Amino acid sequence: MLVQAYNLMAHAFLLFLLFPYIISTNIHACKQIERSSLLSFASTLSSPPLNWTSIDCCRWKGITCDQDGWVTRLLLPSKGLKGGISPSSLANLTHLTHLNLSHNSLYGSLETQFFLSLNRLEILDLSYNCLSGELPLSLPSSNIRTVDLSSNHFFGAIPSSFFQQGSNLTSFNVSNNTFTGYVPSSLCVHSSPSLRLLDFSSNVFSGNLAPGLGKCSKLQVFRAGHNNLLGLFPEDIYNATKLEEIALPLNSLHGAISDKIVNLTNLAILDLSYNHFGGELPLNLGKLSKLKFVTFDFNNLEGALPPSLMNCTNLVELHLGSNSLEGDISILDFSRLSQLTKLDLRNNNFTGAIKILMSCKSLHTLMLDGSFVGEGMPSDDDMVDFDGFQNLKLLSLASSNYTGQIPVWLSKLKNLQILEMRSNQITGPIPSWLGTFPRLFYIDLSDNQISGEFPKQLCRLPRLLYEPKVEDQYEFELPTFISEIIANQSYLQQKLSYFPQTIDLSNNNISGHIPTEIGQLQLLHQFFLGSNNFSGIIPNQISNLKNLEVLEFSSNHFSGIIPSSLVSLNFLREFNVSYNNLEGPIPTSTQLQSFNASAFEGNPKLCGAPLPNKCGPNKDMDVDNKNNKDEGNGHHQLSWFYIFVMLGFIVGFWGVCGSLFFISK
Ligand SMILES: *[C@@H]1O[C@H](CO)[C@@H](O)[C@H](O)[C@H]1NC(C)=O
Ligand SMILES: *[C@@H]1O[C@H](CO)[C@@H](O)[C@H](O)[C@H]1NC(C)=O
Ligand SMILES: *[C@@H]1O[C@H](CO)[C@@H](O)[C@H](O)[C@H]1NC(C)=O
Ligand SMILES: *[C@@H]1O[C@H](CO)[C@@H](O)[C@H](O)[C@H]1NC(C)=O
Ligand SMILES: *[C@@H]1O[C@H](CO)[C@@H](O)[C@H](O)[C@H]1NC(C)=O
Ligand SMILES: *[C@@H]1O[C@H](CO)[C@@H](O)[C@H](O)[C@H]1NC(C)=O
Ligand SMILES: *[C@@H]1O[C@H](CO)[C@@H](O)[C@H](O)[C@H]1NC(C)=O
Ligand SMILES: *[C@@H]1O[C@H](CO)[C@@H](O)[C@H](O)[C@H]1NC(C)=O
Ligand SMILES: *[C@@H]1O[C@H](CO)[C@@H](O)[C@H](O)[C@H]1NC(C)=O
Ligand SMILES: *[C@@H]1O[C@H](CO)[C@@H](O)[C@H](O)[C@H]1NC(C)=O
Ligand SMILES: *[C@@H]1O[C@H](CO)[C@@H](O)[C@H](O)[C@H]1NC(C)=O
Ligand SMILES: *[C@@H]1O[C@H](CO)[C@@H](O)[C@H](O)[C@H]1NC(C)=O
Repeated sequence: MLVQAYNLMAHAFLLFLLFPYIISTNIHACKQIERSSLLSFASTLSSPPLNWTSIDCCRWKGITCDQDGWVTRLLLPSKGLKGGISPSSLANLTHLTHLNLSHNSLYGSLETQFFLSLNRLEILDLSYNCLSGELPLSLPSSNIRTVDLSSNHFFGAIPSSFFQQGSNLTSFNVSNNTFTGYVPSSLCVHSSPSLRLLDFSSNVFSGNLAPGLGKCSKLQVFRAGHNNLLGLFPEDIYNATKLEEIALPLNSLHGAISDKIVNLTNLAILDLSYNHFGGELPLNLGKLSKLKFVTFDFNNLEGALPPSLMNCTNLVELHLGSNSLEGDISILDFSRLSQLTKLDLRNNNFTGAIKILMSCKSLHTLMLDGSFVGEGMPSDDDMVDFDGFQNLKLLSLASSNYTGQIPVWLSKLKNLQILEMRSNQITGPIPSWLGTFPRLFYIDLSDNQISGEFPKQLCRLPRLLYEPKVEDQYEFELPTFISEIIANQSYLQQKLSYFPQTIDLSNNNISGHIPTEIGQLQLLHQFFLGSNNFSGIIPNQISNLKNLEVLEFSSNHFSGIIPSSLVSLNFLREFNVSYNNLEGPIPTSTQLQSFNASAFEGNPKLCGAPLPNKCGPNKDMDVDNKNNKDEGNGHHQLSWFYIFVMLGFIVGFWGVCGSLFFISK
């Protein structure tokens, strides 16, 4: 009995001794506490099942363990996870080094308690979720290298103590949240000298950018655009010579761009647009030979372009629009900018002939609106052997007071997709060759003195007839085509995503009828003919333009009825035929009646909703009209009768003679 008990104890003791060994030979077998933490985490999610069912949690999808069965990695990006993250469950995963839950729909906040218990964390990516609240007081661990909390709903100031443990931090991204307070620009001085990438953009940070970034000797990318930053650009940033990108658009920074910027020899991207920077461009800017994207538009820069700029032979995009720059561009050797694809010089005071720009062989977007006022468009005589601009897709020459006719040299720009010549003093007719551009889908000639008729050839524009092949599509991405100062980002995105197929000839002296061939332009989205001398009827064929969103025909001499087929235009959101000579009832449909009466006013003989005057059948005028119409219709019926008789005759004649002919053979 005693022996038996002794034996049992001995066995138990042996087992006790062997227990750790048994566990450790079973490499990766997950610890019970880790398993329950993970299950507790999963239980708070209302999302597709994670299929975490087997015994060994180290084999679960998204989980990695170390030799001892501690969970070191929890990687579940883009898994459709929904629900509140449970800090208490994650907090028990104390051996985590990698946590990536990006691109899910997690909510909740980062409680300091939970955060600090993850004191081995190296990589933390919670971007693209719905997390909110303020940041914890400190980074979780001194091993942390990457923190990405971008695209969430975090708010509040970044605590001054936050980076205390950040000596290994290389990448910190909190963009697209609603953080307030100062940008912590001294973080390299006190805590994080290893930073390579800092992104504070699209928040509500305010105040000055304090000095300190100059100590970020490894910093490559610094973004803090779209905030409320004020004051001068801190000069010590020119000590951070590893910088490859500085992006601070949409702030209120001012002062001149110092010549010391030439210290940043690695700089490839410099975006200071939508600020209040003034003064002249640094004379030695050209020493930054790696520059590719320079975006200075919407500032107060003045003076001439530094000739050294032509030494930036790697430039791909140069945006200088809406400043007060001036000077003769024809002294600059643009031929050296052989990589340049986009050039925006809009709304400045440049002089010189724009012919010089033809030597930029790769140019596909050229925006010169309101910049060369009084210079005149290069005439055909100037362009005899012209073969430049062969890659041009967008040419924008609006508001430049150009006189004379649309020059023939433009017809050689076979890749043109967008032609913008609004608000000049262009005379003469719309050239018929405009209809031959294989890719043109946006024509704006509004607000000129163009005369003649609507050329039928325009109804053959291939890009308005057929859906384009994928390679012919062209995205006009930021900040190519924003013409107003933008107040907020939602507006910005709206403007950029929408670039519809358009013909805008409004405010000219164009006369004659709309050709019936117009019905071919099935892909047209916006059609503006307002304030011209058009006459005749609104052709029925307009109802073939199934994609039409805007039809603006006001202030012309259109007569006849509004074709009832127009009610089939389901996408119309703007419609105006006011101040013409239209008559009869407005076709009834939810669509046309949804517009204000002002869209129809100024047509005395037009009646029915939304106009106040009803189409009374008893009114003399209406009876007269009806009679006239009946007469007209009778006339038509008569013509058709003759045509049928003739057809009958022809068919009959050939029926007889044809068979005689064949029989005789
Ligand atoms: C869980 O298993 C189901 C069925 O096999 C599968 O459709 C689903 O994608 C799995 N979930 C995850 C997160 O792997
Ligand atoms: C976390 O650990 C604590 C104690 O170590 C325990 O009380 C708690 O239940 C654990 N939480 C989970 C979700 O496992
Ligand atoms: C998180 O996972 C996503 C998807 O795999 C990946 O693109 C991202 O780089 C990861 N984050 C980090 C910091 O490695
Ligand atoms: C940085 O991380 C390494 C391990 O990756 C670690 O050895 C080192 O102690 C950390 N540095 C500091 C200052 O904590
Ligand atoms: C920061 O994250 C956003 C996504 O939220 C991403 O678009 C951006 O490129 C990241 N910044 C850097 C410098 O990588
Ligand atoms: C900003 O964050 C929101 C919320 O996560 C996300 O839906 C949106 O796509 C993000 N915007 C950008 C530009 O990354
Ligand atoms: C740049 O760094 C040098 C030393 O590396 C220092 O003397 C100078 O003051 C710094 N410049 C600025 C503007 O901080
Ligand atoms: C330029 O960078 C060097 C270090 O590469 C530094 O010594 C110098 O002070 C910097 N100049 C300015 C104006 O910051
Ligand atoms: C352009 O660079 C060359 C060679 O580096 C130099 O000789 C020339 O002076 C520079 N031109 C300008 C205008 O700075
Ligand atoms: C161009 O110069 C004229 C006269 O010097 C000035 O009135 C005008 O404001 C300037 N325009 C721009 C956009 O700087
Ligand atoms: C535009 O040209 C007309 C004459 O062609 C001239 O009278 C007018 O002053 C010019 N406007 C500007 C802003 O240069
Ligand atoms: C953004 O700007 C547009 C146009 O100015 C305005 O209608 C809208 O209300 C603004 N939205 C916010 C959130 O400020």
